[in-house]
Amino acid sequence: MDMEKLVSLCKRRGFLFQSSEIYGGLNGFWDYGPLGVELKRNIKEAWWKDMVSGHDDLVTLPGAPEAYEMVGLDCSIIMHPQVWKVSGHYDLFVDKMVDCRETKGRYRADHLDCYRVSEKGEHEDEKFGYVATNLSQAEFQASWSNSFYKKLEKIFQLKEPMIEMVSKPYSTLKEYERGTVLAPGASAVGTLTEPRDFNLMFKTIVGALGTEEDAAFLRPETAQGIFVNFKNVCDSTRVRVPFGIAQMGKSFRNEITPKNFTFRSREFEQMEIEFFCHPNSSRKWYEYWRDRRMKWYTDLGLSSERLQLREHHADELSHYSTGTADIEYAFPFLPPGEFGELEGIAHRGDFDLRSHMEGKLDPNSKPELKVELNAEGKTKWRGSGKDLTYRDDLTNERFTPHVIEPSAGADRGTLAFLCEAYTEDEAPDENGKMQTRVVMKFHPRIAPIKAAIFPLVKKEGMPELAQDIYRKLKKRWNVFYDEKGAVGRRYRRQDEAGTPFCITVDGQTLQDGTVTVRDRDTLEQKRVHQDQLVAELETRLS
Ligand code: GAP
Repeated sequence: MDMEKLVSLCKRRGFLFQSSEIYGGLNGFWDYGPLGVELKRNIKEAWWKDMVSGHDDLVTLPGAPEAYEMVGLDCSIIMHPQVWKVSGHYDLFVDKMVDCRETKGRYRADHLDCYRVSEKGEHEDEKFGYVATNLSQAEFQASWSNSFYKKLEKIFQLKEPMIEMVSKPYSTLKEYERGTVLAPGASAVGTLTEPRDFNLMFKTIVGALGTEEDAAFLRPETAQGIFVNFKNVCDSTRVRVPFGIAQMGKSFRNEITPKNFTFRSREFEQMEIEFFCHPNSSRKWYEYWRDRRMKWYTDLGLSSERLQLREHHADELSHYSTGTADIEYAFPFLPPGEFGELEGIAHRGDFDLRSHMEGKLDPNSKPELKVELNAEGKTKWRGSGKDLTYRDDLTNERFTPHVIEPSAGADRGTLAFLCEAYTEDEAPDENGKMQTRVVMKFHPRIAPIKAAIFPLVKKEGMPELAQDIYRKLKKRWNVFYDEKGAVGRRYRRQDEAGTPFCITVDGQTLQDGTVTVRDRDTLEQKRVHQDQLVAELETRLS
């Protein structure tokens, strides 16, 4: 699938717009248009319904060790600054950044790919340098014009420069190699700075005084709101471990290089669950959530060939974790064989609850996690001092629950569903001639509009009849009425919007009360009595 076609459809049909576009846009920020807002809401609502409000806490679900409860939260975006010190985000939530002294370009050191340039036919130890790019390999190759080669000849003083097709991120280059790198758009080598830490949290000021002491942060994840409310939830409800707390909402990260449409944005929405369980059963719960979350995506229409569940290797895991897996999707903007993360499922042990009790734990302390100390040997970041342990009232056992965290991105999910839905096929136009049609094949549950209602012509009482049907269906679903233009063109517009069904009132409706129901994917048309439409749609949309 051609990503450019999808991006252009998203703008043309009102799925996604660049934020503040009339002022030239703001990199890393996006607005959902009239169709996009419905799509994203449907995805978030499906998640909330399937994970929280529709969860049956009386039965043991397939794969789960036992029955469990789920509740929700909606926490503030700005929290006490100590939360981020204790969670580790204040010290550790950093990316390595490099600046170009000449062009003023700023890059993530691990996203700046450096390709080796050397003399054609010469050996390894001859003159060489690197040309750096933040483009994909295909885009970079496409930019190799004659003038680009001439520039390389001059800068690297090579007669016939050759670019090797294997790249290394700037962050992995040795110090002596860094001085030989030509930055994007630069006219000489060695203009890039050494990589340095850049904290991704957005800083803001709370209150009118505006001093550094009033500095606070926009949350970079929704998860911490759940941990700091663990005691409130236990005290105000009758939940018993094992149980989960879910939250969805905005998160903010000042990404150095936002890219790939909405994939890496600076403002985005997360859908996170913190699942609290007994340490002895935590591995089983991890496996349950990993498989359950993977199935959620396939049930909503992501094809299993483009999805993969990637278990992290043991050496990638924190020592207190017994498992982490990423659910990944083969986004069309990635090179073949590469996948992008949609959701991570992490076994977090008791790291978070203990940190918020005792003070920030050192993730590298072994075998038991210990509170991190500062240069004076005192607790580096104080915890709340509140008791966040749990007492099982049946066994009387007191313990700190372990946590399994399925953490999904609502915008990344929406982007994957958009990519998956985009299809080009052939369908007859109003003259019966086959034409290429663009159709967004969304699962009916997430489709922005569930059905469109058309009068075949704007006369003979057809509009009135169609409007009655529209009003009846509108009470149940987001449906759309359209009487403008040829009916074939109206079908085409609904195909692009991903509307699963089009209902047409025609001459026969006036005689026997039946309408046609056209299926977006099969193009089959079936006659249904208008009194049966609600039941028909109910079956087809489920
Ligand atoms: N609490 C754990 C956590 O936040 P994460 O892997 O950093 O983990 C979870 O984020 C999910 O949030 C990711 O899998 C992705 O879907 C989404 N996400 C993270 N950064 C994002 C960004 N810059 N733009 C869009 N979505 C993002």
